Amino acid sequence: MTEILRTIAEVRAWRQGLAADQTVGFVPTMGALHAGHISLMELAKGHATVTIASIFVNPLQFGPNEDLAKYPRPIEKDLALLKAAGVDAVFLPAVEELYPTGASTFVVEESVSGPLCGAMRPGHFRGVTTVVLKLFNIVQPHLAVFGQKDAQQCAVIERMVRDLAVPVEIIRGPIVREADGLALSSRNVYLGAEDRAAAPLIFASLQAAKAAFDGGERDATRLAAIGLAVLESDPRIKVQYWDVRDAQSLDAISTMDGHDALFAVAAYLGATRLIDNIVLPRP
Ligand code: PAF
Repeated sequence: MTEILRTIAEVRAWRQGLAADQTVGFVPTMGALHAGHISLMELAKGHATVTIASIFVNPLQFGPNEDLAKYPRPIEKDLALLKAAGVDAVFLPAVEELYPTGASTFVVEESVSGPLCGAMRPGHFRGVTTVVLKLFNIVQPHLAVFGQKDAQQCAVIERMVRDLAVPVEIIRGPIVREADGLALSSRNVYLGAEDRAAAPLIFASLQAAKAAFDGGERDATRLAAIGLAVLESDPRIKVQYWDVRDAQSLDAISTMDGHDALFAVAAYLGATRLIDNIVLPRP
C-alpha cells in the first residue's frame, strides 16, 4: 500500500513511525510520471528499506512565461503507478503547505546553476534548491534519487548538499529513452506528431558528437559544432544551447583532455522545450 501524506505533520509522523534501522530513499518529482521516474523509484528501493516519493509542481521554479498552468497533473494515474512500483509513501503537499504566506527564505547556489539552463531560465534553480532543501528537511531521507536527464539539476543539488552539509546521499539515475532515442520527459506529451518525429534528432546530435570524440576529436568547440550542425539540419528545431562543459563544475572547457565532459542540449520544438545530455568520461 502506498500511504498518501498531504501535510508536513503527516510526513513527520510517518517518518517517526519508522524503525531506527530503516533507511529512507526519497524521489522528489513534479508528477506526470513515466518509465524514467519509475526507474528512479526502483533505484531508491534498491538502496533503501523504505521509499517515499513527492509530487509537487513547484511554482517557484517556473518563469512567468513558462508552462506552470498547463503542466500535466494526472494525479490518479501517478498514484496508481507509484502503488504498482511498490513505493511506500507519497507526499502530495498543496502550494500553501510548502510556501506559507509571506515565505521569504530561499536557497541560492551561485556557480553551477549559472550556465546552460540557469542562463536561459533565471530563478529556476533558486526554485529547485529551495524546494529540494525544504523537502529534505521534511522527509529527512538517507538518500535521494534524481534523474540524469536534468544533469545540471543533479550538479546543483550535489553542490548544495556539499556546501550546506546536508546529510543526504544523492544518487543519479540514468536517462531512460524511447526506442528512437528521445529521452523520456513529462513534457513529451506536448509534442505534436511532426515535432515528435523530429525530436530524436536531439539524441542523434549528441551521438554524432560522441562519434567524433570516439574518432579522436578532443576540441570542445569543434565537438559542439558537430552536434549543433546535426540539430540545425531540421528547421523545426530551435536550438537554445549545445554546449560542452566539465561534468561536475559545469565550467566551460576548451578540450576534453583532463575532464569528465558533459554534452548538453536544450532545444524548442514548437513551444515545447526539451533537454538532453550525455557524459563522456575523461580520455
Ligand atoms: O526534477 C524535478 O521534477 C523537479 O525539478 C524537482 C527536483 C522535483 C524539484 O521540484
